[in-house]
Amino acid sequence: MNQIEEERVHLASMMWESHKPLVLYALVRLGIPDLLGDGPASAEQLAERSGTHAASLNRLLRAAITTGTVRVDGVRFGLTTRGELLRADVPGSMRNPLLWYGSGEKMLSWGKLDESVRTGQDAFRHVFGCGLFEHLSEHPDKEEIFNETMAANSGSIAHVLSGIPEIAGSARLADVGGGSGGILAGVLAAHPHMQGVLFDTESGLSGAEATVAAAGVRERCDIVPGDFFESVPGGCDAYLLKHVIHNWSDDDAVTILRHCRETMPQDAALYLVETVVPDDPAEFDAVTMIRDLNMLVLVTGRERTRTDFEQLLTAAGLELTGVSPLARPAHRSSLISASAA
Ligand SMILES: C[S@@+](CC[C@H](N)C(=O)[O-])C[C@H]1O[C@@H](n2cnc3c(N)ncnc32)[C@H](O)[C@@H]1O
Repeated sequence: MNQIEEERVHLASMMWESHKPLVLYALVRLGIPDLLGDGPASAEQLAERSGTHAASLNRLLRAAITTGTVRVDGVRFGLTTRGELLRADVPGSMRNPLLWYGSGEKMLSWGKLDESVRTGQDAFRHVFGCGLFEHLSEHPDKEEIFNETMAANSGSIAHVLSGIPEIAGSARLADVGGGSGGILAGVLAAHPHMQGVLFDTESGLSGAEATVAAAGVRERCDIVPGDFFESVPGGCDAYLLKHVIHNWSDDDAVTILRHCRETMPQDAALYLVETVVPDDPAEFDAVTMIRDLNMLVLVTGRERTRTDFEQLLTAAGLELTGVSPLARPAHRSSLISASAA
């Protein structure tokens, strides 16, 4: 094969491989992993239990074998260890992230990536006629999947953040845009001396009561609905914004940070948890660079370099004091520390 032919094969296989998560999306939508949780079964048995077309389900399961989630022994299909993660009620379940991945919200927006690149605006708005968060607040079923996707690894992130002395040493921690509260609840559970304030929109907080109560920290955690474009709760000595700033344009990001700065006591600290884009293109990794486009397409947001964060913080009256990569499993994210300038 000459080089041109090899490159054509490479590009074609890249295109076909990119359909693999859609195979998993269909499996999850049909509830097949949960049915297989009871033990291996044939396509006919699974079709009967899931109300699907047996021959087509057999083809879906064959394709799923190539994703490493399904195995076959004779005519009976079963889940591999990876496939167990597609079930609903297992620790670390990837069911909701896959449902969000394959949703019309994501797929139709990504289909208009070129529109985003033409205009610099979220393709989501072009397709759905409003911003993502407004859309989610009007579609509780979608918002639940989105919130649970965001919360999917909050337990392990909480564990990583709980081990950071500056965070563990704070008396009252605000989680701004903290969603259903899994991270704050985890940090408070690890540090009985700490109080917390969970701040998000009314609909973003759906599920927060249950999460915070289940962690046994409800008495130490205020749950405050609001809009960070209007104000942010005061009276905390530490402010955490995890994967919030990357949802917004520079102007909006500065407004959010300025509202934090205005309410923060002079000696309080502010922490961002975000992916930091390397300056050197040789260090670009696919996940970070695709996530950057995901932010453009869905919310007119962006992933940023250290210098970008420094500029945003300065514009909001804050000063960047440190950037340190977080330990696994949050290893693509860094803790960006700031204080009042
Ligand atoms: C990408 S999610 C991150 C959630 C959480 N920090 C995490 O990392 O799991 C962004 C959060 O910002 C919240 N949000 C969006 N617009 C907001 C607003 N105007 N005021 C307060 N929160 C908002 C969303 O509801 C959502 O929970």
